[in-house]
Amino acid sequence: MTALKPKVLIARRAPAAVVEQLSAHFDVDFHDGEAPLSADELRARLQGKAGAYITGTERITAELLAACPDLRAVSTMSVGYNHIDLAACTARRVLVTNTPDVLTETTADLGFALLMATARRMSEGERLLRDGLWKSWSWDFLAGADVHGTTLGILGMGRIGQALARRGRFGFNMNIAYHNRSRLPADTEAELGARYLSKDELLRQADHLILVLPYSAASHHCIAAAELALMKPTATLVNIARGGIVDEDALAAALREHRIAAAGLDVFEGEPRVNPALLSLPNIVLTPHIGSATMPTRLAMAGLAADNLVAALTGAPPPTPLNPEILPL
Ligand code: DGY
Repeated sequence: MTALKPKVLIARRAPAAVVEQLSAHFDVDFHDGEAPLSADELRARLQGKAGAYITGTERITAELLAACPDLRAVSTMSVGYNHIDLAACTARRVLVTNTPDVLTETTADLGFALLMATARRMSEGERLLRDGLWKSWSWDFLAGADVHGTTLGILGMGRIGQALARRGRFGFNMNIAYHNRSRLPADTEAELGARYLSKDELLRQADHLILVLPYSAASHHCIAAAELALMKPTATLVNIARGGIVDEDALAAALREHRIAAAGLDVFEGEPRVNPALLSLPNIVLTPHIGSATMPTRLAMAGLAADNLVAALTGAPPPTPLNPEILPL
């Protein structure tokens, strides 16, 4: 008699190779619709499932875990895991895995692209051109800020922060300053040419400030009116982390009153809804959460998330667990 395969839910559209790989090991329930499942639908579809393959759009709460007692592993195709109550998962001995490393360079590329587009007013220029408003050359037409040789401030100096520092230092001869919960080892600071500053001093000194810190209760709105007030009026702010890190109303006011020069946002507090106060401003570049969105990187993330789920439910060590202390399951 063949043993029954564990049941898993693939909660979002996924590459065919992932569906195939998971189907070889598990009895798969696949939500292949474009829209995410609602919280109620997710709870219903997780009944009797040992594993969940999710993305950043599915919230795994303590309440959901209580309603899904068979769940043993949650694999998210994202590096961020603020949508998962990790402590509640650990308390219930539910293994959680994410997809670090494979997206570091791609996300840093997007961060730097957004920084460049913001400093050089590229969206503003394209809108004006498309609207037929480009009349002639003049000395201060769309004059923005330099990137090369300026000070890049990095708030959150993990893997992606360090990849941004390398781009800034070696590609654009920038002075690198950072703030992080913990200071980097001296040899890493030396390699990156990175100066450690207090958060306030970083805000004061940065010509371009980029946010790459994890989102949690501690970092909620950690860039609000008081922090924006410390920045230079010529400075730009870029957020590729999570929308909730920035108080968007305060940012919109600072941009409207030219208390900072410009902003570039890839993430939004209520995404996919975007605060209308931001939409109406000229001095802002907006992209729809595409930090890791290249085909090779998305395939790598999807594959790692699948490997994690297979390992977790077949007794092998998962490549990138977030709560390894509960292993073996
Ligand atoms: C991540 O991997 O955390 C990206 O933001 C996609 O959710």
